[in-house]
Amino acid sequence: MPAADPRLIVPLDLPTAGEARAMIDALGDAVSFYKVGLELFATDGMALARDLKVEGKQVFLDWKLHDIPTTVQRAAAALAGAGCDLLTVHGEPQVMAAAVRGRGGSGLKVLAVTVLTSLDDKDLAEMGYAVTARALVERRIHQAIAAGCDGVVASPHEAVLARQIGGQGFLVVTPGVRPDWAAKNDQARAATPAQALAAGASHIVCGRPVTAADDPRAAALRIVDEMRAVQ
Ligand code: C5P
Repeated sequence: MPAADPRLIVPLDLPTAGEARAMIDALGDAVSFYKVGLELFATDGMALARDLKVEGKQVFLDWKLHDIPTTVQRAAAALAGAGCDLLTVHGEPQVMAAAVRGRGGSGLKVLAVTVLTSLDDKDLAEMGYAVTARALVERRIHQAIAAGCDGVVASPHEAVLARQIGGQGFLVVTPGVRPDWAAKNDQARAATPAQALAAGASHIVCGRPVTAADDPRAAALRIVDEMRAVQ
């Protein structure tokens, strides 16, 4: 059995491509799926993403695109051409449909970010939405499916709902995951890897428990062991 579990995604939340590269090398075959976010994008993120693909890794571009449809469509088409695997876009119908058109028949899967977890009901009211965050999450999961998205990003809390609505095969990518033995950091309502998978996650995003560990590879393998206990 390979050391890595493809359901584990490690975010490369590091300031430079050089530091990200050192982390990737330390993790070796214990991790096969990496998330490249905006911080790295601002430096050499795309070059690193291309290198990772050449090395046979899977790449999740967490760039949360949000623009007019033509721009989103063209950006998604360009990223599909780079062979990346997952791309996030904001969960608005126009944006989601444009990303799906842009990726066309490529292997790039489009994930919708329903409602940022930094927003609560009060923030939404201030922005002019007359719905609760929970109701908007539910509405946008339905809209993601209608737009042809492959899945959503969902907190452990929302993963059950996303799995119920999306059914089998729908991607439910869940951050906010903390093994029992790891520090919670700023993840207030974290779930363990096993809890997140049991709630319906198809993939978990788990960063600092791995990347801030004294031995990142051992930490990743420990998480993989916990995940393999849940099929
Ligand atoms: O280190 P940690 O496991 O908390 O990293 C979680 C990753 O998932 C970060 O890249 C963070 O931006 C992302 N994320 C999150 N919560 C969300 C959406 C994304 O923690 N609601």
